[in-house]
Amino acid sequence: MAKKSILDFRRMVETGEKITWLTGYDYLTAKYIEKAGVEMILVGDSLGMVQLGYETTYPVTMEEMVSHCSAVRRGAPNTFIIGDMPYMSYQTSDEDAVYNAGRLTKESLCDAIKLEGGGEEICKRIKAIASVGILVFGHIGLTPQFAAQMGGYKAQGKSAAAAQKLLDEALRIQEAGACAILVEGVPEIVGKLITEKLSIPVLGIGAGSYTHGQLLIYADMVGYYDNFTPKFVKKYAEIGKELERAFSEYAADVKAGRFPIDGTHTYKISDEEREKIEKLF
Ligand code: KIV
Repeated sequence: MAKKSILDFRRMVETGEKITWLTGYDYLTAKYIEKAGVEMILVGDSLGMVQLGYETTYPVTMEEMVSHCSAVRRGAPNTFIIGDMPYMSYQTSDEDAVYNAGRLTKESLCDAIKLEGGGEEICKRIKAIASVGILVFGHIGLTPQFAAQMGGYKAQGKSAAAAQKLLDEALRIQEAGACAILVEGVPEIVGKLITEKLSIPVLGIGAGSYTHGQLLIYADMVGYYDNFTPKFVKKYAEIGKELERAFSEYAADVKAGRFPIDGTHTYKISDEEREKIEKLF
């Protein structure tokens, strides 16, 4: 499958073809996502929670993002990859934002970056990054880097006033030069409102069916990350259970002497050399 560009995604929006998007954090998973024909991969800072064992996304560093984005690039050379800007890599100043966005795209060869928030300051960062030619995805609604302010991981936009605020943020992000926007954790009608009012592609995760495309955290939808599963996730596999079964069976086989089996899992040797080695005992 040929790699899609932002122009292809705009065309898909015009023709009404839905855009498919999953997170990915490592070489092997990225390879399978690309084989499956999913069009975009987000190397999200959810990396911190679903791969690195942190309780939140806050501790994730630029170095970790560069390393994981690079691995995903190697696994999925023909997929449009978005690298997430980790906490405090862009909030501090326009200069930091441009420097770190440049670093992520230059060192990992991802196609675009994503950052969270739609306030005035964040939109200045979006403008600064877009002005040097880097594709920027905005992200509003349930934004994990603002979890402390939101009082946890809670659905957003549940009143008319809150929906209006989200729409204002989305329009401000578009105005700042973002090439697309992700809306997370809002009622379906709010996802619909934002999708209909914007002219850039609007992707959703937990934002209902009207957005131009859907994102899921891959580790949620294959049953790999089991600390908690958000309401909006549909499970397509139970990889975690399958891994546990395989690991237990292996451990039991080793304990019982059922693995390895001579001739099946061992290297062959000529009879002549075997006899010589036997004399060494
Ligand atoms: O880090 C991430 O994977 C994200 C999603 C939760 C949207 O930003």
